[in-house]
Amino acid sequence: MDDPQLVHFYRQYMQQVQNLSFPPAKLLLEPDVQDQLYKHFFDGPLKGPAAYQRKVLKQLISLIERVIDDPDEDAVSDQLMEHMGYLSTLPKDDPATEASQTQIITYILPEPFEARNPPRILIEEAPNLLAAGSNVGLRTWEASLYLTQYLHSNPNLVSGKSIIELGAGTGLLSILAAGRLNAAHVMSTDGLPHVVESMEKNIHRNQRTVLQPSTNIEAKVLDWADDDPDVLEDTLSIRNGDLPNYNLILGADITYSPDVVPVLARLLMVLMIDMFADNGIEALISATVRNEKTLSVFRDACVERELDVTEVDFTCPSVKEQRGFFHEQAFPIVIMRIRARTKDSKD
Ligand SMILES: C[S@@+](CC[C@H](N)C(=O)[O-])C[C@H]1O[C@@H](n2cnc3c(N)ncnc32)[C@H](O)[C@@H]1O
Repeated sequence: MDDPQLVHFYRQYMQQVQNLSFPPAKLLLEPDVQDQLYKHFFDGPLKGPAAYQRKVLKQLISLIERVIDDPDEDAVSDQLMEHMGYLSTLPKDDPATEASQTQIITYILPEPFEARNPPRILIEEAPNLLAAGSNVGLRTWEASLYLTQYLHSNPNLVSGKSIIELGAGTGLLSILAAGRLNAAHVMSTDGLPHVVESMEKNIHRNQRTVLQPSTNIEAKVLDWADDDPDVLEDTLSIRNGDLPNYNLILGADITYSPDVVPVLARLLMVLMIDMFADNGIEALISATVRNEKTLSVFRDACVERELDVTEVDFTCPSVKEQRGFFHEQAFPIVIMRIRARTKDSKD
């Protein structure tokens, strides 16, 4: 596929984006474009769950049919029509089952559309999960995709760094940092054992592709309430027992609940002031601003603990202009840079 509009559409489709940017109907009408659509979108395994295929193919067929002037000349291809027929025979899940089901989502990196075989990260997750207690880490959230966009366009922030990710959920950000952004080491953590288990599977799933076989990434349970430096030292040590000189903390959508925000700020203080201050450590935390109050509670909790918070100057392209890591921004998303207060900044 060479046409940038088709490549864009394909990348969104592989990520199972709900509001796709469909190419112009006149382009879709071309027989060889329909052949490509069948081959790349619908033929064979790993092309998305039946319900998603059905929804997209139905929209494609309706778009094409609308621009057919002469049915003797133009048509929807037999392959596409037959595939629609096949999909219609498959049983449909109720919406609640669909929302909790996990799928393999293919995140294609936001390389230029002309790039041949751009790298892809495969993540098993429940992409339609709305939000629910202990399962909140089983899907990748918009703030994470926003931070991946930022780091992908600023790889110097990650290159050579030893990183701790807090509340890493599916592990997408950690996998990107370890596999494509040249991090020295990534300790990808989450507070819930079942979330860490699924993160480990995601790491394993990318082991022979974006990640190098020589592993520079590990997944461990780290609850933000466990802020005893001795316990932390054990948790953050890598396989051979060494404690890396951590110099970057990452987190996406981890400041969403006022109940956990003080605990999180305290953990940041222990990591950034008590344990790794000599490494010039900083934290980059992205947050969806669903509620300004929670964010200011977090900022205040950091300031009280001698941590300075500034907002990173970054505007992510709109979903139509994104080339990968697609996400809508129903609420604004910000990235905070957090540093230990220096003597100068105290004065
Ligand atoms: C909204 S999800 C964000 C997941 C991922 N960072 C992303 O953006 O896709 C919040 C994550 O924080 C984790 N979390 C919540 N409370 C925690 C705590 N006290 N300690 C460690 N992790 C916690 C959850 O398990 C979940 O994975």
